[in-house]
Amino acid sequence: MATVDYSLRGRIAVVAFQAPPVNSLGHAMRAGLVAALDRAAADAAVDGVVLIGGNGTFSAGADIREFGTPAMIRGPSLWTLNTALDAMPKPVVAAIEGVALGGGLELAMSCHHRVALATAKVGLPEVKLGLLPGAGGTQRLPRLIGVENALNVMLSGEPLPAPMFAKSPLFDRVVDADLLGAAVAVAEASAAALREGKKLPRARDLKVREPDLDGICQFARNTVKTAFKEYPAPLAIIDAVHFGATRPIDAGFAEEGRLFKQLMDGPVSAAMRHVFFAERAASRVAGLPEGTATRDIKAVGVIGAGTMGTGIAINFLNAGIPVRLLEVGQEALDKGVARIRQTYEGQVKKGKLDAAKLEARMALLAPTLSYADLGAVDLVIEAVFEDMGVKEKVFRQLDAVAKPGAILASNTSTLDVDQIAGFTGRPGDVIGLHFFSPANVMRLLEVVRGAKTAPDVLATAMALAKKIRKTAVVSGVCDGFIGNRMINQYSAQALQMLDEGASVEQVDGAIEKFGFAMGPFRMSDLAGNDIGFHIRKRQYAEGKLARKAVVADRLCEMGRFGQKTGAGWYDYKPGDRNAQPSKVVADLIDQARKEAGVTPRRLDDAEIVDRLVFALVNEGARILEEKIAQRASDIDLVYLTGYGFPMWRGGPMQYADSRTLYEVARRMQAFAALPGADSAFWTPAPLVARLAADGGSFNGGGA
Ligand code: 3HC
Ligand code: NAI
Repeated sequence: MATVDYSLRGRIAVVAFQAPPVNSLGHAMRAGLVAALDRAAADAAVDGVVLIGGNGTFSAGADIREFGTPAMIRGPSLWTLNTALDAMPKPVVAAIEGVALGGGLELAMSCHHRVALATAKVGLPEVKLGLLPGAGGTQRLPRLIGVENALNVMLSGEPLPAPMFAKSPLFDRVVDADLLGAAVAVAEASAAALREGKKLPRARDLKVREPDLDGICQFARNTVKTAFKEYPAPLAIIDAVHFGATRPIDAGFAEEGRLFKQLMDGPVSAAMRHVFFAERAASRVAGLPEGTATRDIKAVGVIGAGTMGTGIAINFLNAGIPVRLLEVGQEALDKGVARIRQTYEGQVKKGKLDAAKLEARMALLAPTLSYADLGAVDLVIEAVFEDMGVKEKVFRQLDAVAKPGAILASNTSTLDVDQIAGFTGRPGDVIGLHFFSPANVMRLLEVVRGAKTAPDVLATAMALAKKIRKTAVVSGVCDGFIGNRMINQYSAQALQMLDEGASVEQVDGAIEKFGFAMGPFRMSDLAGNDIGFHIRKRQYAEGKLARKAVVADRLCEMGRFGQKTGAGWYDYKPGDRNAQPSKVVADLIDQARKEAGVTPRRLDDAEIVDRLVFALVNEGARILEEKIAQRASDIDLVYLTGYGFPMWRGGPMQYADSRTLYEVARRMQAFAALPGADSAFWTPAPLVARLAADGGSFNGGGA
């Protein structure tokens, strides 16, 4: 709830505003602030005003929850508020602590003076929401800190320490303590100057001084064009600054407003706003009340020093948490330790880490061959071969040595976490922590909640994920959890389209144009085709796969595992990771079509993309129905942070929403009618069918 408190300190009105937790500037807050300014303007006992956030922070800007709703433009708008400040006959000082971001900083820039605590951070993060600062920021900031600095602030979107701008007109003073006292003093001095006939300083009255305006803007345009190909906001920011810098500020405001509306109404900002809320929603877990106690994690054990184990260990070493790394044999252990060191050395070479830090991190690593050495750690993560028999041995040994209360986690990508928990006498302490490869780089962590996982174990995993800077998404237990279960359907479609007439290059090319960093075949060559082969063999044996992946299986039988064997879906020249189209693979596909009696047909890019993405969506819907995922936005987050789904499309479920589920269901029905189609595969999941019929959406309600 927004409150605006008005009190007097001598002849200065102190307007303290609050809307916990971040004092966003929703309608009620804007109305309260305009009323307080009007009151101060009319109050004969008042010479000046201080605006201060009431709960340790200034403001995180516009209320993003209002975007796209009538409340966003309901008067008074931010625009009205800032115009009221421009028109104030008495000095107004913004007193900034915590953060002043977006509309919060724009509000402060509309005041006559700004005083900040040295610990405060300021920034214009609108670009991260696919927007530009739309309450005067593109015009006032260049006037206060110069064009180049202002572009850097707006294009990075990062919150920056206030002292960085202490010498610019952005701040009158940056103080270490007594923010309110300093702000009141500035207001009093300004009021005295006003009485002596001085004009009140306003950002809008400053001139933009930049002799090389065109050069700087062109340089910025070239930079963002390559860095943010699909994002319109960075270019719009530069355009707004460039336009306004040589014109009266009101013309600049008008252009800024036009561009802001255009971005706000576009699909990219809708997707980016969705991602903002998805990231925050993911930490809310059903049945886990806020404040659930967590266990202390002071030391971690990792079992298996292969690809994943080493990457997992690095996460904890980076966070300053000691790691005991266990292997079956000395050679594998030495190789694992060497791999960790090599990763750090690579970072030192790139200037991302210094040699002292490398050694400090390596000093936290204790390699071992003995389970007894895991007796004292608070969390053990197992990353051994993906084989239930091996996992059973590991968990039985762990159960024997781990101290009471230690969390026992598995990094399995497909196996049943409940079965694994059953190998111990403490299933409540067992959880899945599914990292993605490379585990020290990929942001996603699927936290797999077993049937018996204790609430404090789950809460600890979520808190720990934050500490090691991962995006944690909770998944229930099923084959492949959220991400891999869906990707199996996507891969099945990719293979099916080869059978029907598409080429490997065409499938990859179409989905890469859609925005994926890598198509399914290039990705598989990178990760190793043998991983899927191994999983398929198990699934054939369990009767879980209706169709045999003939071409993919033959590819692996030929030893074409991908980049690591110099050949996979593509050919590779020695020492070159560039994928070259393969005649061998084309012949293999051709042969399989002949054997199946298929006459190849031409598939266009739109069909390829829709079949790949809607295969994800249909499985995602089933995952929601089964409550494996808590919400559609969690699924989106899994795909954005773990599978290279284009961020600017907001994730598969959001993308489906943007196409409307009616259209999605119709496309699925059309795919079901194609020659040779698997009609069961393309039957819209009941949730898709219901939402399509009701006009609902995954993320907007009804799911
Ligand atoms: N509007 C509405 N809600 C907001 C918000 C905003 N501007 N900023 C944060 N919140 C909400 C979050 O959704 C979260 O809600 P929840 O608890 O219900 O999930 C809560 O505030 C706390 O946020 P965080 O979990 O992110 O808390 P942190 O302490 O980690 O971070 C922060 C605080 C640095 C302020 C961070 O929230 C942030 O960066 N916020 C976004 C700031 C932003 O983008 N501002 C620009 C808005 S657009 C604008 O101003 C347009 C203008 O130019 C016209
Ligand atoms: P890997 O083969 O690279 O490493 C496994 C390591 O475990 C080997 O070094 C092996 O010596 C060791 N090991 C085997 N049995 C052991 C035992 N009883 N005690 C101690 N160490 C033992 O395998 P990778 O790729 O690291 O996979 C490990 C686990 O992580 C698997 O469950 C896998 O499904 C999962 N995973 C793999 C991903 C990947 O992309 N590679 C992604 C996410 C999860």
